[in-house]
Amino acid sequence: MAEIVLGVSGGIASYKAAELLRLFTESGHGVRVVPTASSLHFVGAATWEALSGRPVQHEVFEHVDEVAHVRIGQSADLVVVVPTTANLLAKAAQGLADDLLTTTLLTARCPVVMAPAMHTEMWEHAATRANVATLRERGVVVLEPAVGRLTGKDSGKGRLPDPGQIFAAALEVLAGRPTDLSGRHVVVSAGGTREYLDPVRYLGNRSSGRQGYALAEAAAARGARVTLVAANVELPDPAGVDVVRVVSTEDLRHAVLAASAHADAVVMAAAPADFRPAEFVESKIKKTGDGVAPDVKLVENPDVLAELVRTRTSKRPVVVGFAAETGDANGTVIEHGRAKLERKGCDLLVVNDVSAGKVFGSEQNEAVLLGADGSVAEVPVGPKIDLAHAIWDTVVHRMDW
Ligand code: CTP
Repeated sequence: MAEIVLGVSGGIASYKAAELLRLFTESGHGVRVVPTASSLHFVGAATWEALSGRPVQHEVFEHVDEVAHVRIGQSADLVVVVPTTANLLAKAAQGLADDLLTTTLLTARCPVVMAPAMHTEMWEHAATRANVATLRERGVVVLEPAVGRLTGKDSGKGRLPDPGQIFAAALEVLAGRPTDLSGRHVVVSAGGTREYLDPVRYLGNRSSGRQGYALAEAAAARGARVTLVAANVELPDPAGVDVVRVVSTEDLRHAVLAASAHADAVVMAAAPADFRPAEFVESKIKKTGDGVAPDVKLVENPDVLAELVRTRTSKRPVVVGFAAETGDANGTVIEHGRAKLERKGCDLLVVNDVSAGKVFGSEQNEAVLLGADGSVAEVPVGPKIDLAHAIWDTVVHRMDW
């Protein structure tokens, strides 16, 4: 079990760190809470001592004989700062060390995860952007704040991600995943698009979005800035990820192309509908009563993956496609995958065998990763998060810029 330092800086979201602390202790980890002085205005030391079962101090001049400011950082397996204020981001980026938490951040040699929470204006300020970029370059996993209700009546980006999601991200980091996507921007599409015939009916597909969400979660844990383009997915947002919601293939195309302009990698895990009704009927289509069903004329949707490949100017971004295949008289699953890889021109194709309802909605997945360079790697059946990491392992080697 790991030794975790839970840093708490002073924001209204400080109380949410208590839930994270419980998640850590209930799963057997030892937690030492190191609050900043201002966070104690929001949650007092007594709460942290009771929940962690450990003494709590925030200054370097308490228990000086124990040299706590060095020892706590040195003996930690993971430091998680929840919430991280704009002030703490600035101090950490500059290497200031004027209390126990900031000295701990300088002495720690283990992974560090920060979950910022602040008002949208503060998060978007050039100074904060620069501090986050500096910290990410140094390998700190700075999660993207969530979008939602902020302290007052306002809402926007800056909300602390759900503690359960921060917990999941922290466990990923603790599992020793490399932070090799630090400083990178990746785009992941997930889910299945819907093409409406009228206000209530649509053409859709069975994609749950789980594999795309696992890819986004894995990339965030490896330090990337992640844009997740989600088509009709009913899963909680992964921590530290920018989520853009879309409905149709055309919406998805816009969102993916816009986010990909300066991205390092794009993974198209979504299942966009290939066809849409030629026209959208503004009011609900009624039965005629004579037993004759309406004719629905379909037109083809743009192929987003192929467009991504066509419009990039160099090998950047790395483009990854997915192929759900079934073997048939014309070829095996792999043969169909190889043909699709060539047709689409992407760098990597993740081939799933979907015969007999495998993969859809399941927590497990298995795949073969086909590279445009001829490489073939089989990923055995396992949790979707493992396949996600196997895909990033392959993608990261193709980012030679
Ligand atoms: N894809 C896309 N835009 C579409 C359809 C698919 O970007 N309109 C992407 C998917 O996200 C996936 C890959 O293309 O990464 C493979 O999709 P698939 O539908 O299997 O490929 P198709 O070329 O449509 O082949 P098939 O005829 O086998 O359906």
